Amino acid sequence: MKNIILLLLSLIIIGFGFAYAVGSNPEPDVTQKGELMDKKVLVAYFSWGGNTKSIAEKIHAQTGGDIFRIEPVTPYPSDYNETAYGVAKEQKDKGIHPPIKNTDVSSYDVIFVGTPAWWYTMAPPVMTFLSENKFEGKTIVPFVTHGGGGSYSIPADMEKLAKGAKVLKTPFVVYGKGGAGTDNDLKNWLKDLKY
Ligand SMILES: Cc1cc2nc3c(=O)[nH]c(=O)nc-3n(C[C@H](O)[C@H](O)[C@H](O)COP(=O)(O)O)c2cc1C
Repeated sequence: MKNIILLLLSLIIIGFGFAYAVGSNPEPDVTQKGELMDKKVLVAYFSWGGNTKSIAEKIHAQTGGDIFRIEPVTPYPSDYNETAYGVAKEQKDKGIHPPIKNTDVSSYDVIFVGTPAWWYTMAPPVMTFLSENKFEGKTIVPFVTHGGGGSYSIPADMEKLAKGAKVLKTPFVVYGKGGAGTDNDLKNWLKDLKY
């Protein structure tokens, strides 16, 4: 009888141990393969000169889902110097998040967020987009075009603004609008994300 009770107690302890082990498995990291499959996808991007737009359209062509351009209510000047050393520089220096035309990400699970590198981080309208939307439980996949500086710490900067989002730390990074190898690089990057 004593043996049977001991056996039953052991089984209960093993059972609890197993349940704990299953329940305490860490949530899979977003970079795990397959994590992004079968999800509702949005490609959202800001582009002043067209480079980021071009990459956004290539991504969208492969992922499907929706695509939209993040647009500031007040457009930037068409003159490069006025934008780069005037408005954008001032926004950067003063931490201004300029108002943008309405955007809503509530119906999406995975949001590819594209930005040109502007003054060592993302462009200010993208900051507005990330701080004004609700990203809890959503995954952000950054992509960046730049003029030689790379992606800086844009994914980490995005994570600070998009509260509750998982932000992938492996952005697609392109100089300008890319070159001969870009389509292939993009295909491989998406393949790694299991698209
Ligand atoms: C306001 C402004 C700031 C920029 N700052 C940077 C920078 O810090 N680092 C960099 O590599 N390129 C910088 N660039 C170059 C752009 O990142 C690059 O040309 C980008 O591909 C432009 O994308 P778009 O055509 O979609 O606007 C800057 C360009 C502008 C207009």
